[in-house]
Amino acid sequence: MDKILIRGGAALKGTIPISGAKNATLPELAATLLTSEKVYLTNIPHLADVTTMLELLGQQGSDLTIDEKLGVEIDNRGINNFCAPYDLVSTMRASILVMGPMLARYGQAEISMPGGCAIGSRPVNLHIQGLRAMGAEVSLGDGYIRAKAKRLRGAKIFLEPVTVTGTENLLMAATLADGVTILENAAREPEVVDLANMLTSMGAKIQGAGSSTITIEGVDELHGTKHNIIPDRIETATFIIAAAITDGDITLTNTQSEYLTVPIEAFRQAGIDIDLKDDGTMRIRKGSKLKALDIQTSPYPGFPTDIQAQMLVLNSVSKGISTVTETIFENRFMHVSELQRMGADITIQGNTVRVRGVKNLIGAPVMATDLRASASLVLAGLAANGDTLISRVYHLDRGYERIEEKLLALGADIQRLSE
Ligand code: EPU
Repeated sequence: MDKILIRGGAALKGTIPISGAKNATLPELAATLLTSEKVYLTNIPHLADVTTMLELLGQQGSDLTIDEKLGVEIDNRGINNFCAPYDLVSTMRASILVMGPMLARYGQAEISMPGGCAIGSRPVNLHIQGLRAMGAEVSLGDGYIRAKAKRLRGAKIFLEPVTVTGTENLLMAATLADGVTILENAAREPEVVDLANMLTSMGAKIQGAGSSTITIEGVDELHGTKHNIIPDRIETATFIIAAAITDGDITLTNTQSEYLTVPIEAFRQAGIDIDLKDDGTMRIRKGSKLKALDIQTSPYPGFPTDIQAQMLVLNSVSKGISTVTETIFENRFMHVSELQRMGADITIQGNTVRVRGVKNLIGAPVMATDLRASASLVLAGLAANGDTLISRVYHLDRGYERIEEKLLALGADIQRLSE
């Protein structure tokens, strides 16, 4: 298993591009199942999770043409397998995103039930309840969700709590349903909006994406499209923090700052100088002194849970005492004990952590537990005195494209050790 070795202390300097958003790419690949015409997706990030989704589509009979520069062409005329097996779903929970489109277009879907994961129990009851409300017969057994429907029908569905992939699954299913579907308390994330834009370009009739009520009028069929995936807002935020905590001066290209309004406001309050340009570039420098900031995660447009771990590192090297409260997942503080090993002064009280800023973090061997936890360890390693050796970096490869290459290009002392 690969490890990453970072010698901390180098100020990051230079320019790097932000990749396409992982959490937009995954539902959009699943959405291609809604048509038998060709779909072209560009700005696809090279990530382990994207490879897993492509493998899943391949197993179902998709013909995939991958061009390093141009993106992916997906031809779904040959779909003949309606099962998402355990080995793929257990590697990536987002495999559940094929359930809605499969059922809507082929009348059947068999998906291995996703288990819990490092950040919480993560049930999928709302995906199932929503499809049942649309007339699907859903049974659970031998670790599988089996769903059938001649044709789904429109329904009014209230989602509580707000669920991102739940909204996406039902949105995709509703595009081909008979009648009107109304999703209430829908997720408002930019990735949901990007998916809705792609579906609309395929002929779907969708109103209200980006608000908490989405109305979908089902159509008989969807056609092919070309779609360019939005930039990854979580990768952008991770690099903003990297620049600030290393006293760097970096420029990020291919960004969309409107998806980061709340985090950017928070980062500015913390003392980070962020200069937004009209052409989608962003220049980031540490302003004066970094100040610790109280944060509570919440669904979009609130502060994203996917930046919580990285925020703990920023607060750890900032002046003052802060609290960070996690409201989305019940167990998303696995990185705390690793950060403590690097000298961070963090204590957990229920779903809140208290962070007292320290002068310096200290390099140490640490272990990644999930994707964003890994990102926080990389950040801590960049800012620390001495060497940090991060193991289990496969978590990082799921969601950060070429992270060590990008950091190397910015002058970090970082290397991947392959075993
Ligand atoms: N929930 C339910 N029932 C459901 C679905 C969700 O109770 O049927 C609960 C969850 O247990 C959780 C809350 O609702 O407490 C929100 O979970 P959500 O369904 O929104 O999470 P998700 O769709 O599984 C996506 C992202 C995550 C991100 C969350 C929250 C994708 C592929 N994944 O997950 O991304 O943290 O939304 O914003 O879009 C990551 O990229 O590192 C990552 C974990």
